[in-house]
Amino acid sequence: MSKEKIVLSIGDPDVEAPDYVFEAAYEKMKEGGAWTHYGYQSDKPAGFRSAVVDYYKKFGGVDYEPSAVIPSAGSSAALYIALRTILNEGDEILMFEPTYRGHFTILNGMGVKQNLVQLKRENAYHPDIDAIAEAVTPKTKAVLVCNPNNPTGTVFTQKELSAVGDLAVDHDMGIYSDEIYLHYVYDDNKFTSTASLSDAYKERTINIMSFSKTFSMTGWRLGYIMVPEMYDAKAKGIYGMAAPRPPTFLYAAGEAALRGDFKYVDERVAAYDERRMYFCDAVDAINGLTCDIFEGAFYAWFDAKSTGMGSEQFTDKLAEKEGVYFSPGHTFGPAQDGMVRVPLCQPMPVLKEGVARLEKFMTTL
Ligand SMILES: Cc1ncc(COP(=O)(O)O)c(C=O)c1O
Repeated sequence: MSKEKIVLSIGDPDVEAPDYVFEAAYEKMKEGGAWTHYGYQSDKPAGFRSAVVDYYKKFGGVDYEPSAVIPSAGSSAALYIALRTILNEGDEILMFEPTYRGHFTILNGMGVKQNLVQLKRENAYHPDIDAIAEAVTPKTKAVLVCNPNNPTGTVFTQKELSAVGDLAVDHDMGIYSDEIYLHYVYDDNKFTSTASLSDAYKERTINIMSFSKTFSMTGWRLGYIMVPEMYDAKAKGIYGMAAPRPPTFLYAAGEAALRGDFKYVDERVAAYDERRMYFCDAVDAINGLTCDIFEGAFYAWFDAKSTGMGSEQFTDKLAEKEGVYFSPGHTFGPAQDGMVRVPLCQPMPVLKEGVARLEKFMTTL
């Protein structure tokens, strides 16, 4: 009999959103009327926008006008609006590698070249500041920071963010700050919002935000961007037609989430923290694998190069032999072959079984 599959390849939390978020959505669906019709021109997004402004002031330390908030059906749509707002075919963008594969997908589709600065293990997956400046060319129109980063968990320091911000100001580039994991920060690491560091950064920064990971709402499709005045008209021109808006009653669900007590989020952070400490150490202890404790987000990122296999061969074989599904690292950047990503989105007993099977797999090589 084949073993039950262990699927740890998608960053999709293993729990439901908080009850009060469900209640808010049910209530507005039942109420109907304007809550179940086109929402954009109505007064329904107003409560959501002001909840976002209050939330971001509290957690990001920056004041925004409600009109800066552009809601979208998940942050993937938000990212699309954001990237389209500043970049055109033939432009270049400065990014850090490895990073979330969705960034590459949208940019490749747009014909935008990515100038990649490596986040290397020997530097604890933090960038070399000089290398950031060297990656700027006359065609570089923007820089993207995923903070905390998927898949390395890097929580960018103020110094690194200031280096990025200063370059953006000096070279008139836009700044993308993908902050969808901002609550998932461990140990002494501290999340810093790029826009909080200076008004000069804020006026060219688009924040990309999501409910997917913070409130375990991946299937609800709710996200948003926060857009400075400089890009407002262009972003709003793209919004709605080329990138989908959220269902109207979800504005109320989003507002309930952002105005909640965040006990739910604290519990999620504690659960991922426990998984992180267990999983990274357990994988690191397996002969032939190296896995460091990460700073933020909820992904383990391990090195399997000693097996001589590429990422895809490794993950395919592991799936075939042991029924364990991890994400091949090469999809997070061209220099990542031999790396493997594991979203810690299953409870501890499943992670333990995954580790046991991984260990067994390694002994058969
Ligand atoms: C860094 C990052 N940004 C954006 C997204 C897209 O998330 P969603 O469209 O569910 O909001 C993801 C999903 O994994 C991600 O890891």
